[in-house]
Formats: sequence, C-alpha cells, structure tokens
Amino acid sequence: MHFLNSLPIAVVLSLLPFAPLSKAQTNDNSTSNTFFQEFSTFLNDSGYTSFSSALAQANQTQSGQQLLSQLSEGNENFTLFAPTNQAFSSVPGNISGNQTLLSEYLSYHFIHGDLRNATAGGNSTGGGGDGAQLESAVFPNITIGRSLLNSSDLVQLEGNKSQVLAWTRNGPDGNVTILNQINNITVSNSSQWRNFFVAEVNVVFTPPGNVSTALTAVNDTQLLSFAQQVQVPLQDGSNGTAVALLGQARGFTLFAPDSQVFTSDVNATIQQLQNNQSAAISFFQNLYVNGSTIYSPTLTSLAVNASSGSSNQTIISAGGEPFTFSFNDTGLYVNNGNGSSVRIIRPDVLVENGVIHLIDNILFNTGSEPSAASSAFASASAAATETATDTQAIGVFPIPAPTPTSG
Ligand SMILES: *[C@@H]1O[C@H](CO)[C@@H](O)[C@H](O)[C@H]1NC(C)=O
Ligand SMILES: *[C@@H]1O[C@H](CO)[C@@H](O)[C@H](O)[C@H]1NC(C)=O
Ligand SMILES: *[C@@H]1O[C@H](CO)[C@@H](O)[C@H](O)[C@H]1NC(C)=O
Ligand SMILES: *[C@@H]1O[C@H](CO)[C@@H](O)[C@H](O)[C@H]1NC(C)=O
Ligand SMILES: *[C@@H]1O[C@H](CO)[C@@H](O)[C@H](O)[C@H]1NC(C)=O
Ligand SMILES: *[C@@H]1O[C@H](CO)[C@@H](O)[C@H](O)[C@H]1NC(C)=O
Ligand SMILES: *[C@@H]1O[C@H](CO)[C@@H](O)[C@H](O)[C@H]1NC(C)=O
Ligand SMILES: *[C@@H]1O[C@H](CO)[C@@H](O)[C@H](O)[C@H]1NC(C)=O
Ligand SMILES: *[C@@H]1O[C@H](CO)[C@@H](O)[C@H](O)[C@H]1NC(C)=O
Ligand SMILES: *[C@@H]1O[C@H](CO)[C@@H](O)[C@H](O)[C@H]1NC(C)=O
Ligand SMILES: *[C@@H]1O[C@H](CO)[C@@H](O)[C@H](O)[C@H]1NC(C)=O
Ligand SMILES: *[C@@H]1O[C@H](CO)[C@@H](O)[C@H](O)[C@H]1NC(C)=O
Repeated sequence: MHFLNSLPIAVVLSLLPFAPLSKAQTNDNSTSNTFFQEFSTFLNDSGYTSFSSALAQANQTQSGQQLLSQLSEGNENFTLFAPTNQAFSSVPGNISGNQTLLSEYLSYHFIHGDLRNATAGGNSTGGGGDGAQLESAVFPNITIGRSLLNSSDLVQLEGNKSQVLAWTRNGPDGNVTILNQINNITVSNSSQWRNFFVAEVNVVFTPPGNVSTALTAVNDTQLLSFAQQVQVPLQDGSNGTAVALLGQARGFTLFAPDSQVFTSDVNATIQQLQNNQSAAISFFQNLYVNGSTIYSPTLTSLAVNASSGSSNQTIISAGGEPFTFSFNDTGLYVNNGNGSSVRIIRPDVLVENGVIHLIDNILFNTGSEPSAASSAFASASAAATETATDTQAIGVFPIPAPTPTSG
C-alpha cells in the first residue's frame, strides 16, 4: 500500500481495476436500498424506531434518497445524533407532515467524520458526563461539525457548503450542550455501527433560521432594531435595511453587540450616527465579514497565530477594516481597529447563511477601505469555490498551547 502514496492520483486510479465503475455501482439504488434496510434494522434494534420510520418517509422524496445514497457509499465516517422516540413525538406537524422538510431535518443529524473522543475510555457514558464519548471542546471553546444538510431551502452558505452543528462541554467534566437549540439537549448513550458513530439525543434538531430569527432567539432585539433602521445599498443597487443586506449574503460573520451593550450612552452615539448615513453604513459594515462564515475555532486559531507572531492573524470586514483576535483565561476577544478589544460572550450563533458571534461591548469603527473590502470578498469567493468537504471537526483541533495575551 505504501508505494501508492507516492504516486499521482491518476496513476493510482488506473491501478485500481474498475474504480470508476465501482463508484457508479455504490451510487445505484439497489446498493442504497440494501444499505437502508440494514441501517433500519440497526436503528430499530437500538430502539430508534421513530427515526427509522422518519427515514422511510424521507425515502419517498428525492432529497431523502440523495441522503441515503450518500450514506450508503461507505467511503467516509459519519457521526449520527440519533433522536429518541420521545424526541420525535414533539416534532411539529408542519415538519413531520412534509416529507421533503422532514428529510432535510434528518440530514442535519448526520455529521461528516468520526467525532468520537479517542481518548475517552470505555464505550459507556460516564467519566466526563453524558456524551463523554463525543469529541467536544470545553466552553468557551466550541466544536463545529459539518452536517449533511445542504438543501438550498434551508442553507445558503458560501460555496454551497452544508450547514454545521455546534456543541460544547460546560466544564471539563460537564455535559455536552448542542448550541442554537431551544432547550438544552443531552447527549447520552453512544454506539458504533459500521462507519457510523452514534450518539443519542433527546431532541430533534432544528436547522438554523435567518438573521432576524437568530438575533431574536438570542434576545438581541436592540441590534436587530438598529439593523432594521440603517439604510444601506443592496446588491441590486437599491437601498434597503442592513438586515436585508445580510440576508442576501452567501456567507457572513457578524460580531453583534449583545442586548446589554445598548445603554443610553451607546444609544446616544448610535443616534448621532443615524444622522450621518455614510458613517452609519461604515459602522455596520465594520461589524461583519462578507462572503465568509468563520466559526469560533478558526477565530481562536487566528488569536493563536497573533500570540505566536505567525502569519494569518486577521480577517477583513465588509468595510475593509481588519478584525484582530486575542485570548486569555476569560475568553476570546475581537478588535476592529478602533478602541479596545471586546469579548465574545456567545460564539457560533448559527444562521442559514452565516454565523453571529455576540460581543459584550460596542465595536465602533466608521473607517472605510472599499478596495480592501472588495479584495477580501473576492478571495473569500475564490476560496468558497474550492470546496473541500470538511471530514473532521472544523478548526485547528487540538489547538497548540498558546502564549496568553491580555484581553
Ligand atoms: C426507498 O424508496 C425507493 C423508491 O421509492 C424504493 O424502491 C425502496 O424500496 C425504498 N426503500 C426502502 C428500504 O423502503
Ligand atoms: C434511483 O434513485 C434516484 C434518486 O436518488 C431516482 O431519481 C431514480 O429514478 C431511481 N432509479 C431507479 C431505477 O429506481
Ligand atoms: C473511519 O474511522 C476509522 C476509525 O476511527 C479510521 O480507522 C478510518 O481511517 C476512518 N475512515 C475514513 C475514510 O476516514
Ligand atoms: C415542504 O417543505 C419544502 C422544503 O422546505 C417546501 O419547499 C414545500 O413548500 C413544503 N410543502 C408544503 C406543502 O408545505
Ligand atoms: C476526551 O476525553 C478525555 C477524557 O475524558 C478528556 O480529558 C478530553 O478533554 C476529551 N477531549 C475531547 C476533544 O473531547
Ligand atoms: C449531566 O446531565 C445529567 C442528565 O441530564 C445530569 O443528571 C447531570 O447533573 C449533568 N451534569 C452536569 C455536570 O451538568
Ligand atoms: C440550560 O443549561 C444552562 C446551564 O448549563 C442553564 O442555566 C439553563 O437554565 C438551562 N436551560 C434549560 C431550558 O434547561
Ligand atoms: C461497546 O461494548 C459492547 C459490549 O462490550 C460491544 O458489543 C460494542 O461493540 C462496543 N462498542 C464500541 C463502539 O466499542
Ligand atoms: C432579554 O434582554 C432584556 C434586556 O434587554 C432583559 O430584560 C431580558 O431579561 C432578556 N431576556 C432573556 C430571556 O434573556
Ligand atoms: C440610497 O440612499 C442614498 C442616501 O439617502 C441616496 O443618495 C440614493 O439616491 C439612494 N439610492 C437609491 C437607488 O434610492
Ligand atoms: C437603546 O435602544 C434600543 C433600541 O433602539 C432600546 O431597545 C433600548 O431600550 C435602549 N436602551 C436604553 C437604555 O435606552
Ligand atoms: C480554549 O482554547 C484555548 C486555545 O487552545 C486554550 O488556551 C484554552 O485553555 C481553552 N479553554 C478551555 C476552557 O478549554
């Protein structure tokens, strides 16, 4: 096998008899149906009978058949969050009654990669709390997995990437919490079936919604109300709200001042801004990155690069100003070039077309560098087209030991 590693891919393929044919065979419906029957047997034997019936419903639709076909290929590992029967009993009728939507929801429970914690002992739960078997960072660090949900009905990320799921552990011995879901979710009994690592959850996950839904869910109605008022040029040249502008993005990363930030002083400053439209636009543009959805593990690695003096330390806002990052024991900090660093208090609030990180203070930069902004957007677009599928948790993980900086 070793000598194959040093040969060009085309040579390797030509050495493997029938490689293209076997690829075609694995995609045909009989392989997919055989897989599905065996997978259903595993699910039923494990007590996930509602999940199994939901997959049978999904199999009536094109998106469900695509999901089953992808799962049946057998050439990569998956992590499955399997909801209990009780979890399925509380799925709203508009979802359970719509087979296409149901299959899209189901696809959000399959994550690329075997995200089992290789160093967690045994194969029962315990030691690190429920879900100890699942690879998970400790809050404020987050683990991000790329799911199989990629229907354009529900996801509009850059490069047609599929949606991610975010989770964390609430202490070194704490339980795993899946973020962005309405109730706290417990992750429990884990098992293995072929190339699937299966972790049980007590809720059927809801895929992320739009930016207004996300800001409302985290109670940031103040920023939402500002973004609904500020008028900005939209992609088609018309004027619209900043919320509409974010809604048009294919990928964005917004640093959103949390509701508590909007004191009367901050409100007065923002009020002044609103009398000067170009300053208000720049202020808003310097709160987000256009065209790139950047999750907190990547922000943490930028902070690590900054502390070690390595290259790749910044990302560029839609206004063309750099964001820089640092961290210490109290968490991860961001600065957009004017004033002090602010702390990210709630990372990875997922949106159908991007991500929001809530910050604990105002970032106030009304500078504007349009050429830097458009070159950052162009390189983001170029990077997005080179879609490499994430087959492991996203981010440098585990992250090398840092030299702490002051926040
Ligand atoms: C899935 O759907 C296809 C097409 O309708 C059907 O032929 C197949 O039997 C179904 N598979 C299972 C396991 O129900
Ligand atoms: C195989 O499944 C695809 C959907 O994945 C469907 O469009 C096609 O008609 C099926 N073919 C047969 C022969 O059932
Ligand atoms: C799947 O996971 C197993 C065990 O973790 C590993 O040995 C194997 O290389 C993985 N396969 C792929 C395609 O990543
Ligand atoms: C079912 O869900 C799909 C995907 O979200 C949607 O396009 C379709 O309109 C829904 N159908 C009904 C009848 O609501
Ligand atoms: C894996 O499990 C070990 C032992 O419980 C724990 O110390 C470590 O933090 C876990 N790592 C991850 C990435 O979950
Ligand atoms: C973990 O979850 C279990 C079951 O929900 C609960 O009994 C336990 O107190 C939780 N542990 C921590 C540290 O939150
Ligand atoms: C979720 O967990 C957090 C702490 O881990 C707790 O403060 C909160 O009350 C829980 N929420 C629900 C709805 O159980
Ligand atoms: C866990 O242990 C049981 C019983 O010892 C075994 O059947 C099963 O294959 C193990 N699972 C994993 C993932 O190691
Ligand atoms: C939402 O924020 C307001 C203050 O802006 C606060 O009074 C309220 O308690 C918060 N609600 C939740 C659920 O955090
Ligand atoms: C957008 O708003 C600006 C400032 O109010 C105005 O100058 C411009 O004409 C507007 N553009 C359109 C297309 O309405
Ligand atoms: C600041 O403005 C927001 C939105 O305009 C409002 O909801 C909030 O109550 C204001 N805060 C104070 C302290 O006046
Ligand atoms: C989060 O990650 C950073 C960078 O690797 C690390 O220094 C820090 O200790 C981690 N925090 C926790 C709570 O694990």
